[in-house]
Amino acid sequence: MFTGSEAGAVRLCAASELTEAGRAFVFDVLVHGQPERAFALRFDGRVVAYLNRCVHVAAEMDWQPGEFLDADRRFIVCSIHGATYEPADGRCVGGPCGKGRLTALAVAESGGAVYWYPSPNIQPFAFDEPAPRSSP
Ligand code: FES
Repeated sequence: MFTGSEAGAVRLCAASELTEAGRAFVFDVLVHGQPERAFALRFDGRVVAYLNRCVHVAAEMDWQPGEFLDADRRFIVCSIHGATYEPADGRCVGGPCGKGRLTALAVAESGGAVYWYPSPNIQPFAFDEPAPRSSP
């Protein structure tokens, strides 16, 4: 069982930030070394996470930052051409995504926080610390 202290787990946000079928937590990742975005949201009480990359065309899907669900808060819908995905497993259920499926990221809740387990192919984005400004 996940304890929240396993090596390599990345804390994403407080569990309370992800309300049922609410706004997603969006975060930066590296996929095979290339920057992309991913998102985590709560659906049917469970936190799920996917790359923010539509199966139809490799584009980000949210219609507003962090807003992935349709008006009924039932499906993930791509804002570009309307591909529709099942939130529980990322499977395409309508629109131009065919038999595709969103790329899932492993996440877990522990101690009131949401954690992501990076994989060999999807790693945390490494931020470059800006150099300190020198005083004039
Ligand atoms: S890019 Fe998502 S439906 Fe076309």
